Amino acid sequence: MDDLYRDYILEHYRHPHNFGIIEAPDARYEGANPLCGDRITMMLGIRDGIVAEVAFTGRGCAISQASASLLTDEIKGKPVDEVAKITPADVLDLLGIEISPARLKCALLSLDTVSHALEERGGAAAGAAADPGAGAVPGPVASAEA
Ligand code: FES
Repeated sequence: MDDLYRDYILEHYRHPHNFGIIEAPDARYEGANPLCGDRITMMLGIRDGIVAEVAFTGRGCAISQASASLLTDEIKGKPVDEVAKITPADVLDLLGIEISPARLKCALLSLDTVSHALEERGGAAAGAAADPGAGAVPGPVASAEA
């Protein structure tokens, strides 16, 4: 069973779903795992409160990229409010394999990046408005694909 799940993760890593770019996204954020430098950029196209389009680019370990692939499948077509409520446990469920504490940051980089993208867009995530601007600089971010 475990092998089956491992294959499933590797399949998403090799052929990630929703990998690409949205030209004029409504929300965008580049997240990075400071421990290894791996990155994921999430782009969302939002219409009528629904995540109508989603794409990501990035590079990193199999777990981080597979989790981004699975998460983008999961949020596509969902209301933004529901996406903002996705928890780390939900993402670990999507991955379906045991994640060691050392790899948690890999597994959750995609969710962290989606959450930041929504927060920067204007407090879609509950409580984001209460955050007195934690150093985030809103505005156009030069796209720096490595
Ligand atoms: Fe970098 Fe997994 S080793 S995100």
